[in-house]
Amino acid sequence: MTRELPSDFLWGGATSDFQYEGGYRENGRGLSTHDYETNGNQINPRHHTMVTSSGKKIFPKSAFVNADDVPENAKPLVVDNQYYPSHNAVDFFHHYKEDIKLMANMGFNVFRFSISWSRIYPTGEEETPNQKGIEFYDNVISELEKYNIQPLITICHDELPINLAVKYDGWNSRKVIELYMKYVRTLFDNFGKRCKYWLTFNEINAIRGFGPTGVHKASGIDRYQAAHNMFVASAKAVILGHKMMPKSQFGAMYAMSASYPATCKPEDMFHNQLEQRENWYFIDTMGRGYYPVYADEILQHHGIKSLKEIKMDPDDKEVLKKGQLDFISFSYYRSNISKDGDDWFNVGGSPNPYLKTTPWGWGLDPLGLRYTMNMIYDRIQKPIFIVENGMGAIDKPNQEGYVEDNYRIEYLSQHLSAMADAINIDKIPCIGYTMWGPIDLISLSTGEMRKRYGFVYVDMDDLGNGTLKRTPKKSYFWIKHVIETNGKALDEN
Ligand code: BG6
Repeated sequence: MTRELPSDFLWGGATSDFQYEGGYRENGRGLSTHDYETNGNQINPRHHTMVTSSGKKIFPKSAFVNADDVPENAKPLVVDNQYYPSHNAVDFFHHYKEDIKLMANMGFNVFRFSISWSRIYPTGEEETPNQKGIEFYDNVISELEKYNIQPLITICHDELPINLAVKYDGWNSRKVIELYMKYVRTLFDNFGKRCKYWLTFNEINAIRGFGPTGVHKASGIDRYQAAHNMFVASAKAVILGHKMMPKSQFGAMYAMSASYPATCKPEDMFHNQLEQRENWYFIDTMGRGYYPVYADEILQHHGIKSLKEIKMDPDDKEVLKKGQLDFISFSYYRSNISKDGDDWFNVGGSPNPYLKTTPWGWGLDPLGLRYTMNMIYDRIQKPIFIVENGMGAIDKPNQEGYVEDNYRIEYLSQHLSAMADAINIDKIPCIGYTMWGPIDLISLSTGEMRKRYGFVYVDMDDLGNGTLKRTPKKSYFWIKHVIETNGKALDEN
C-alpha cells in the first residue's frame, strides 16, 4: 500500500501568536497573559512576574492556573532585567512576507496561526476593534493568498487579554463568553470570507492540568467551570460561524498523547481507561454536543461532587447541541503510560521501556499517532485534522548556519508514514497535517529557543540575542520533496 495521500490533502505548518509573532506593543496591541512569562529551562522552569498589594515583586511558577503560591491581590507586572520571550518572539510581525515565502517554497497549502486577542481588542472590552491589529492579519492572509496557502485560524491559543484575567478571573466568568463572542464576530466580519477552517481553542483539555484559562486560584471547580464556559463559547462561535459563513468548518484542538496501560494487570487497564476519559470528557462534550454519562466520575477526581455544581444557563444544553464541532483536531507529540495509583494528571507519564525519548524526555512513538487517529475516529465519526506534531531538538548549525537535522527527518518521516497508513489502510478521513513550528519559534513549556521544531533555523538564542536570520535546514528540502510527491516519497523509507 502506497503512502501517497488524497489529492485534496492539506500540508502545512502551525504556530501561535505569542511564540512566533513578537511586536507585542506594536500598533496598539494590548498585553496578554503570556506577556508576563519569563523564559526557563529544564532546571529552572519559566515563571511569571507579579507584584503584591504591598509592592513586593514575586515570581510564581504559574499565575493563572494552579496558582496556590500567588497572594490574593497580586497583579501581573513587567519587571526590568527579565527576559520575556513573547515580547519579540522570532518577529513574524516584521518577517511575515519572508516566512510565508519560505512556507510556499516547501509546498505548504495551509498555514495554521493564532490571532492575538489583545491585538484586536487590547483590553478585551473596547467598543470597537483596533483597526491596526486587523490590518496586520489582513496583510498576512493576503500574503498567504498570493501563494494559494489557505489559513487555518486558531481564535484563542492559550491566552487572553490580561485585563480579562485580572478583572474577571478569566474563563471562570461568563462575562468572558460575551467578550469572546464580540472578538469572534469581529474576526468573522473581517476574515470570514477568506478562511474556511477555524479552531475555537487550542489544547482545551489541558485545563485538567495546566491549561491557561486566565483563572487565578484554580481549584478543581474553577477549572471545570472555566471549561464549561469555554465549551459554551466554542459552541456559540460555531453557531455564529455557520450562520455567517455557511461553508466554514470548525474544530477545537486537543492535546493528545496516546496513553497505554503500564501492564495488562486489570487495575492498570482500568486506570488507563479513566485516564483516557479525562481527555474524552472534552472531546465527547464538544464533538457530540452533550456531556458524557461519566462526567460526574471525572469531576469527582477533581474534588467536584457532580455536574450539578457547575453553573449553567438554562439554554446551555441547547447551545452545546447546536454548536458541535465539524472536525476533531489535535496535537500529537508522544505517548505516555499510566498505572493504578498514578496521579490524575501525570502529564509526562512514566517512561515507556520500549521507547526512546527526545532530550526533553518525550517518548518517541509514531505508531501512537496511528493509534490515536483510529481511537478518535472510532469514537466520534468526524474528520480529523492533525494540527501539531514535531520533535523539539537542539540544532547545531555549521559555520554557514546550516543544520543537518537527520533526527527531525527520521521523526517526521516515521510519523507521516504512520499517518498515511491510518488514512490509506485504516481509512480514517483526515483533512490535513500542520507540523508544529515550521520556522523555529519559542517553546511553550519552557520559553526556550534552543528547543527547536523548525524546517528553518532562526538565529536567536534563549535570551533573545541573534540576527533573526532565517536559514533552511536539511529537513526543509526533505519535506519539500514529500509534499511535492503528496506523500509518495515516504514509500522510499
Ligand atoms: C502544544 C502547544 O502544547 O505543544 C504549543 O499547542 C507548543 O503551543 C507545543 O509549543 C510544543 O510544546 P513545547 O513546550 O515544546 O513548545
